[in-house]
Amino acid sequence: MTAESINILGIETSCDETAAAVVTDGEIIKSSVVASQAKLHEKFGGVVPEIASRAHLESICPVIIEAIEKADITKADIDAIAIANQPGLTVALIVGVTAAKTLSFTWNKPLIAINHIHAHMQSAMLAQQNLQLPAVALIVSGGHTSLYDCHSILEPKLLGSTIDDAAGEAFDKVATILKLPYPGGPSIEKIAKDGNPSAVNFPRSLLGPDSLDFSFSGIKTAVLYHCQGQDMKGKSKVHSMTKQQIADIAASFQQAVVDVLVKKTSRAIEKTDAKTVLLGGGVAANNVLRGALEKMCDNNDSVERLLIAPKQYCTDNAVMVASLAYHKFKAGIFADLSLEPKAHGQ
Ligand code: KG4
Ligand code: ZN
Repeated sequence: MTAESINILGIETSCDETAAAVVTDGEIIKSSVVASQAKLHEKFGGVVPEIASRAHLESICPVIIEAIEKADITKADIDAIAIANQPGLTVALIVGVTAAKTLSFTWNKPLIAINHIHAHMQSAMLAQQNLQLPAVALIVSGGHTSLYDCHSILEPKLLGSTIDDAAGEAFDKVATILKLPYPGGPSIEKIAKDGNPSAVNFPRSLLGPDSLDFSFSGIKTAVLYHCQGQDMKGKSKVHSMTKQQIADIAASFQQAVVDVLVKKTSRAIEKTDAKTVLLGGGVAANNVLRGALEKMCDNNDSVERLLIAPKQYCTDNAVMVASLAYHKFKAGIFADLSLEPKAHGQ
């Protein structure tokens, strides 16, 4: 390790994953530990904030200790503590924020506050330190669906976002309608492999010719009507559907969401002078989305580069937090012990 190496301990507790990682110089991943709570929330079909908060409390110390041990460093080697303090579930964020502030104070290390969505963007830029910006970034997660004009890693400009449900949220809710296991995204992708994406023509809401915002509540309702009848008076027909019928609905839903995400990204490319496209967030793990965005970028002469987050860093993790924090460290942007969790923040 050279004398200039900067080791950052990243912490992430914004939703239902307790994560810690040590990243050196923004790109060398020394360790990444993620304790998923998926099993705890499964029977509720979504994240229950109080359960998430309690589970974070139980896992936070063991996860941080494991990340430091796996990185084979001591606290003396850590140069800063980075924490995703927004956006997310306040009762979940507060666990990570409190842990990070405590470590910052007791170990006398600088504290760095990170925006969770910007960190998802960073996961597409891991090991791309000299990337030429600007870039258009599509960030699709359980809580957010956003397009950014990324002229600067530290100050991306929001171009558009969801006006109702996020794409991941729609995947999770449609999975519940189709009686598929939580989390919905991977379940829908799995069953959709055997389905026909043209079987049901679900609506693609584009919100007008110039809009870069997203709306996914309409398609969720369309799937519900399809499964329960327009009047919603009948019982769900899902139990009497064949596996093929469910696969067809899942594939058609997934295709409609992917079509909208790709179309809006292509609009954002037109509106900016970006030659690079970034894709990150939990839904970016979806192979159909990855493939469709790749195809669009291949066919778009103004796009020179598409960078997609590695699959293990699409869903919530602390590597993206520690990696982005390195840029703040270099820029001398630090937080103090008054840092608080914030539910919102683009
Ligand atoms: O980024 P993330 O881990 O958490 C938030 O910041 O919200 O994203 C979680 C979301 C969930 O809604 C999950 O269903 C979705 O990402 N997701 C997927 C896939 N894997 C995770 N959606 C579609 N296809 C997938 N393979
Ligand atoms: Zn996330």
